Amino acid sequence: MTAKLFSPITLGGLEFPNRIAVAPMCQYSADDGSATDWHLYHWMNLAMSGAGMITVEMTDVERRGRITHGCLGLYSDHNEAAAKRALDAAKAVAAPRVKFGPQLAHAGRKASNQRPWEGAGALAPNEDPWPVVSASAIPFTEGWQTPRALEDDEIEHLIDLYESAALRARRVGYDFIELHGAHGYLFHQFLSPLSNKRTDRWGGSLENRMRFLVETAQRIRKTVPELMLGVRMSITEWVEGGFSPEEAIEVAKVLKAVGVSYICCSSGGNVLTQNMPVGSGYQVHLATAIRDGADIPVRAVGMIDDPLLAESIVSEGKADMVALARPLLADPRWPWRAAATLGAEMETAPQFARSMPLMKRWVKKA
Ligand SMILES: Cc1cc2nc3c(=O)[nH]c(=O)nc-3n(C[C@H](O)[C@H](O)[C@H](O)COP(=O)(O)O)c2cc1C
Repeated sequence: MTAKLFSPITLGGLEFPNRIAVAPMCQYSADDGSATDWHLYHWMNLAMSGAGMITVEMTDVERRGRITHGCLGLYSDHNEAAAKRALDAAKAVAAPRVKFGPQLAHAGRKASNQRPWEGAGALAPNEDPWPVVSASAIPFTEGWQTPRALEDDEIEHLIDLYESAALRARRVGYDFIELHGAHGYLFHQFLSPLSNKRTDRWGGSLENRMRFLVETAQRIRKTVPELMLGVRMSITEWVEGGFSPEEAIEVAKVLKAVGVSYICCSSGGNVLTQNMPVGSGYQVHLATAIRDGADIPVRAVGMIDDPLLAESIVSEGKADMVALARPLLADPRWPWRAAATLGAEMETAPQFARSMPLMKRWVKKA
């Protein structure tokens, strides 16, 4: 039996060698949005991991859209050159047919924060904070800045900024783009009735709340049709009255109609009152709901660290791909281990090939 996890998949005309994705992971190690040597090392390491799809961390479309001073961006020529340097190096060592894409984003009201290891709270006056914006003037939580509600023309301008970051992504040499519509960042702030209280064409009905995300996706498809486009959403907010799976299905249908090729199905992050039942594969059913409801390829994510669980998700048709974050930080050879566990063959760099039998022996012993 061949493992489905190691079978290729084509999304929007782009072929991936297997169904394992690296989930986007902020490294908080950029310099005014520019990738540093940390990214060079990190992307090269992930390129050799065996995962077929590498989603580069949240990459902000403007300076004030960064969560922290260390967040990655694609808003300047320097950002573009630095990303190209790191991506060229990663591609040079990548396993065959591995594809890379940035997760374009804006933190909105969750911007101007400290790095996780500095406290993760709002930047203090002596930490060079900046004013934040959102759909409505509602802070994320106590002690965080109250955002200024964006004007109509500012939202239009933000769509231009996404387009310009997408053009930079193409010049950098990325293969696809993911839009970050999850975890309480700006698109999610518009999607959720809890953070969007607008009464203009960007708020109120679901059609209005999804307009910013949909028009951005549409613009990127038109301007950069060569790059496959996906979207990550928080399918539920795990709270009464929040953005729901039923609404997410409707958004996914519209995104599919404008040319989006996959939805990565995450959850939560927009309100602290969420009641999230975290556990092994706890978001997989959300991916299945989107796939069944909107007939679009989906990526499942969240505590999928067991190769047998990952294989069952794709082989039982619960999702088309799986994305892993923390497991790939803990063990960047996780895909090799999964292949050995599932008895699948996978291509590694020839320089590393002699270690594969050892991996198989370790897996057998465990
Ligand atoms: C260090 C770290 C950074 C993260 N940064 C991002 C990010 O940039 N964009 C995003 O959508 N999710 C981000 N996440 C969430 C992960 O992509 C993923 O959805 C989550 O960690 C659950 O998957 P896991 O159980 O495999 O870690 C981050 C998670 C971690 C641990």
